[in-house]
Order: sequence, then structure tokens, then C-alpha cells
Amino acid sequence: MSTTTQTTTSRITASEPEGLDNDSRLETFAIPGSRVIHGKVFPLGIRVKDGQSFTSAAEAASYLETIARRGLWNDLLRDHGALLLRGFPTANASDFDKVVKAFKLPQPHREIGLAGKRSIVTGAIKTANEEPPDVKFYYHSEYGRSAHFPGVLFFFSEIVPDQGGQTPLLSSLELHDRLKEELPDFLHDLTTKGVLGRQYFPARDDPEAEHIGWNWKDSYGFDIQPGDTKEVQRQKVEQVLKDTLQADAEWQPNDALHVLQNLPAIRRVASTGELSFFNGFAGVYGRARDCRALEPPYKGVDGKYHLPTTYGDGSTIPTRSLERLLELSDEIGFLVPWQAGDVAVINNYTVQHARSPWVGKRSLLASLWDGNEKFVPV
Ligand SMILES: [Fe+2]
Repeated sequence: MSTTTQTTTSRITASEPEGLDNDSRLETFAIPGSRVIHGKVFPLGIRVKDGQSFTSAAEAASYLETIARRGLWNDLLRDHGALLLRGFPTANASDFDKVVKAFKLPQPHREIGLAGKRSIVTGAIKTANEEPPDVKFYYHSEYGRSAHFPGVLFFFSEIVPDQGGQTPLLSSLELHDRLKEELPDFLHDLTTKGVLGRQYFPARDDPEAEHIGWNWKDSYGFDIQPGDTKEVQRQKVEQVLKDTLQADAEWQPNDALHVLQNLPAIRRVASTGELSFFNGFAGVYGRARDCRALEPPYKGVDGKYHLPTTYGDGSTIPTRSLERLLELSDEIGFLVPWQAGDVAVINNYTVQHARSPWVGKRSLLASLWDGNEKFVPV
């Protein structure tokens, strides 16, 4: 599973006679360094054929929509996990907005419990993340620490930086397989115990809140009204946590909130029956390690709190397993070789993403959608 491939494209779509191999305007292409996962190329490159062109994003979007109506995007995302679209006339956020809507997914994902810096650009388009360019993000499933997560992610490369900034992707299916081969006891513990994640949300009026970048009132206090007492505010936040995330609240003496999420770490994908490593705890550990926040009170040199994830029963996840997990993730990772105008479409159920540092000006935009996939019990 770990070999790289230069596979020609004919085999990729050979089982899909109604797919892109017969398409008049688009074709698949091999991306150097792509991998083969369960017999399918990951990621799959899709580009506008030589001699074909779209005169506008609107025209491209209406063409992409005809493909969506055939259900082909769903099939390709299920089979390949990630698609890299190249050669379309996508130059800015408004073009990108047209393209994402052409996929005809159920609806934009409503983010609950944002713990990152992200703002709306236009329509369903947001900045990917506004943290400084030297901050590395480890692999994670988007909102993999939460019970409420998007199904499909779109990334748009508006401006490619001078150096770095390639978006790392890995197959969560391959990561599961590699853990099974190399760390079966760890995988067994993850599968049987699940994980208990903790996230720190300061109070909005805490002087630390601005530096941290989020607070419990903005992230969860949708129902809070002016004049609500602290007690009522807390009850409303607890209700949102319970109803939307099946999460628990632990209030701290400084009025900060710890959100406790007890979730599976390994899930079964409904449409294929495959097992996927779906969570975000490796990233939490990696960031905590980098910020020297592995000991109580888990406050890092970045001035933020990095609360450790445990197994679901509260027992410690061994550091050596976490370290090996990070190594394995890097071994099977793929760096998206961004060109300006590229759009990546990612099945969040089967693909984890990360962020590489960069030098220079970069603009990567994102759009999060609810999809058609589901998880079923392992
Ligand atoms: Fe992310």
C-alpha cells in the first residue's frame, strides 16, 4: 500500500464507463508522488483537456454541475479520497464559490465550536486559517475532535507562496492499515476505548482570550441573550454542547471552559465498509509537544492551552505510540503541489490534512460542506 505510483490514468476510471474517461472536456492525470490505496489512486488529478477551455468560472461550474447530477463526484470522492482540479478559470474567491456550489452537496457545513482563526470571504468561502505562516499543523480530520464535522472540504490555491505551503494529505484508510501492521495493540486500544479529548475555551472577557483567538461565548453561546446571568449563560452553553456535540462542559475557576468529547477514534465508512482513522488527537499532541505543553497546566510557549487527549476510559495514551503515529503519518503523507487556480476536493471521512509552513504571500481559501457519506459502528 505504501508504494508510490506513476500509474496511467486508463485503469483508474476503467470501471467507470460513464465516468471521466469518456468525458469530452475533462481528463484524469497522474500526480507525481501520488499513492495507491486499496487499488485506487490517491489523490486523483482531474484537468481540463488539451484544446478545451472554459471561458468563465460560471461556465466551468455549470459543466461541473452536470457531472454532479450523474453522481460522479460522489463516486470519485468515495474511491479516491481526494481530487485535484487543475486548469479551470478559478482566479478568486467568487470563482471558487461558484465551483464549490456546482458539486451539489447537501449544504454548507455549520461550524460549531470553532477553535481556530477563520473568517468568511464570500458566500460559502472562508479563509483556511489565519495563524502565522511558520505554524505547522499536524494531520487531522476536520473537526475530528468533535461529533459534528463536515463531509467534504474544498481548498482553493489563490496565491502560491515563494516556498512551502503545500497542503499535506494522507489517506485515513492507509493510516489505519499501517497501524494494524505496525502498532496492533495501539490500534486495538483506540478501537475499543475511543478517545477523550479536551479543549480549552477562555471566557470572552479574559485578557487571554484575544491572544488565544477564540472563547466559549463566541464558539458555543449562540443562545445567550443580553442580561443572561453567568449561571444561565453556562446552562445555555452546556445545552448546545449536549444537543449538538454530545459533549460535556467542565467549568474552571477562571471561568474558562473545558469541552470534553468522548468519541471513537476508528470509524467504519458506510459506503465501503472500510475502517478509517478519524480523529484529531495526533495533531493535539504534536502541537503540545512543539509548544512544550505536555505537563500541567498544559500552557505552551505560544500562550495557549494544549489539553491532552486520553483514551476514552481516561487512561494515558503512551507517548511512544503518539510519536510513532506522527512518524507514520509523515511517511504516508502526500504534499499537494499547488498551482495558482487549483482546487482540491477532500473526503473528510477518509482523508486527513495538515498545513506546512511557508515563506512569502499565500492565499489558501476553504469551503466546508456536509456530504453524503456516513459512519456506521465499527
Ligand atoms: Fe483543518
